[in-house]
Amino acid sequence: MSELVLVDTAERIRTISFNRPDKKNALTRAMYTAAAQAIEDGERNGDVRAFILTGTSGVFTAGNDIVDFMERPPAMGSDETPPVGRFMNALLHAKKPVVAAVDGLAIGIGVTLLMHCDLVYCSDRASFKTPFVDLALAPEYGSSQTMTRAFGHQIAAELLMLGASWDAWRAEQTGLVTRTTTPEALMDTARTAAAALAAKPPAALAKAKELMRMAPEPVEDRVAREGRLFSELLQSPEFAEAAAAFMERRAPDFDKLTTG
Ligand code: COA
Repeated sequence: MSELVLVDTAERIRTISFNRPDKKNALTRAMYTAAAQAIEDGERNGDVRAFILTGTSGVFTAGNDIVDFMERPPAMGSDETPPVGRFMNALLHAKKPVVAAVDGLAIGIGVTLLMHCDLVYCSDRASFKTPFVDLALAPEYGSSQTMTRAFGHQIAAELLMLGASWDAWRAEQTGLVTRTTTPEALMDTARTAAAALAAKPPAALAKAKELMRMAPEPVEDRVAREGRLFSELLQSPEFAEAAAAFMERRAPDFDKLTTG
């Protein structure tokens, strides 16, 4: 595994850190591949229950490495998935929860990818910018849809058309981030959330995530879908354990169930 991306797995949390601070953690093909592998492997690994995605002190990532980009532009739509596509697909399809911890700069894909995380914490010195139009490029990986849906057109346009830089306050106000902390408290906050997610019944948690990320449908269809799932989960070993723990006045232990 490349040292430009650090991967650490402890207490059921896999932390993936972009680690190229001299280049503001600009992401190269090798870094995308390493991060993609860490997610893909974590998805298969029953000992991993949650991911944290982070950068280094003062910088999350300045986005795609522009030199790498010019030398070997990703060929979208070709037969071969480029490393950036592999990484974003891994993130998009992750069934396990992903918590992002952003300290300082998040630019370009460093913001785009946040739309595919479940919880996003940032420090009060974070800033967010998607200068695609300024670079004569286009929004990527669904952001023209995810951001417009999340923030509304007029707010998303500030990022995607104006190329404005959002500070932590604006990011929290718009809902781009879950919560703002001090730089010192950032990783503890992310780890506490990831640990709480890692202790939850994994199959039920994955189902909740799947539902929340599903394309919109008529609300009656969604009610029916949730109802079927609810009935199914009432029969699950996880519910049996949750109910037994409640009756026995103890904490549930979902680790003893091999749900992966
Ligand atoms: N790709 C490649 N290299 C990058 C980079 C990127 N996206 N972002 C920063 N770097 C490199 C710089 O070239 C510089 O390298 P050098 O020391 O060898 O000259 C180093 O990282 C430090 O960057 P620098 O510009 O000196 O730091 P700064 O604090 O003045 O500015 C940024 C930081 C991130 C605001 C500025 O570098 C920038 O705008 N980068 C481009 C971000 C971008 O447009 N990303 C979207 C790509 S789609």
